Amino acid sequence: MPNIYVIRKKIKKFNKSISVSGDKSISIRWVLFASLAKGISRATNLLMSDDVLASIEAIKKLGIKTEINKNECLIFGKGIEGYKYKKNITINAKNSGTLGRLILGLLVNSPHKIKIIGDKSLSKRDFKRIADPLKKFGAKIKLKKNKTLPLEIIGSKNLKPINFTEDKGSAQCKSAVIFAGMRSKGSTLIKAKKSRNHTEILCSHLKLPIEVKKQKKYDKIRINKINNFKPINYKIPSDISSSAFFITLAALTKNSILTIKKVNINNSRVGIISILKKMGVKINFKNIRIYKGEKIADIKVKSPKMLKSFNCPSKLNSSAIDEFLLIFLVAAKAKGVSFFKDLSELNQKESPRLKWGQRILNLMGVKTITTNNSIKIFGNPELNINKKIIIKNYLKDHRVFMTSVVAGLSFGGYWYIHDKNSVKTSFPNFLKIMNKFKN
Ligand code: S3P
Repeated sequence: MPNIYVIRKKIKKFNKSISVSGDKSISIRWVLFASLAKGISRATNLLMSDDVLASIEAIKKLGIKTEINKNECLIFGKGIEGYKYKKNITINAKNSGTLGRLILGLLVNSPHKIKIIGDKSLSKRDFKRIADPLKKFGAKIKLKKNKTLPLEIIGSKNLKPINFTEDKGSAQCKSAVIFAGMRSKGSTLIKAKKSRNHTEILCSHLKLPIEVKKQKKYDKIRINKINNFKPINYKIPSDISSSAFFITLAALTKNSILTIKKVNINNSRVGIISILKKMGVKINFKNIRIYKGEKIADIKVKSPKMLKSFNCPSKLNSSAIDEFLLIFLVAAKAKGVSFFKDLSELNQKESPRLKWGQRILNLMGVKTITTNNSIKIFGNPELNINKKIIIKNYLKDHRVFMTSVVAGLSFGGYWYIHDKNSVKTSFPNFLKIMNKFKN
């Protein structure tokens, strides 16, 4: 059973300091921006996961040279018009919604048809949400069943700027429209529901013509056509979403202390920290500093004596969007009933994650009441599992796998978690780091 991860024993209390790998969102954005820069960009601590490697493969298909050395990735950008659009290019975005959607925003000037394909999970996801605004710029896009991959895009020489309202809170759609706006003459205006803002931060850092007006629920973004810009050397900070697995492990393992170094704590990503603090977990940021517009810190976590239930306001949803499976585990051990709402976007991820959250909790013996966009979790501070639990057929969703590992190691039971290779998508050394916690 080589691709099954088996758990037989809980983890005992720990006091540890770790580092996790580079931020996935920033790594993919760095690859794409570097592919447009004029000159050689270098990154250290770039996440070497399948999603990022697929991004590097994608720009290579567009004629951009890259080099991966031991600690450094080099991208030889040829400027904003530097892509070589050959006939019959196919880009395989594999499992990555971020790559699949963001790159479309850059392909809006391709004179030839480009095909985008993905794996089984990505091929089930909604690409209409990004095809619709890109068509307004002047690109032609053909989707399977008018909704999914595989898709074909042909760009235009006369791209027109657009006004676009992004109301799902999707950073991928917002970013793809920013990219297309960068290629179009005139001002593109985006009214975007709050979501992660790494693309806007990188644009500002590169002094590209972007203006962002922050409002309560929406940001107003104006982007103009850009000219060539200089290469970007970047030390990628660690990923809060990867850190979250260990933060949760610390929250669920009594008398434990954990430090995670040099993590990106951008406000648009730290929803899990706000939520776990409300549930009683002690979390502090140390050594806070700003690096290229991003906030970085060491995160210190202490497990509480008792976790409290939480009625989560939906304004925290977007900044915690990739962490809800973990937050549900914490709610399972909290005293009282927790409630999470307005989460229909969770079912749009690598797997239908709201359903998987419910499934994992129910297999653990936790009572839930779920609708298509909310979940009520009846917590039990004494929860301890003694039975066999099998997790499989979850579309190889890396976060379902890693959350199940955290569940098994925190609550006990005999777990058989299939498809352990799924970690390669976002966090290839997850199990290696986790092994350090086994005592
Ligand atoms: C991401 C945006 C989010 C997130 C994904 C990464 C990004 O997706 O879930 O893991 O890097 O822009 P949506 O834009 O679909 O919300």
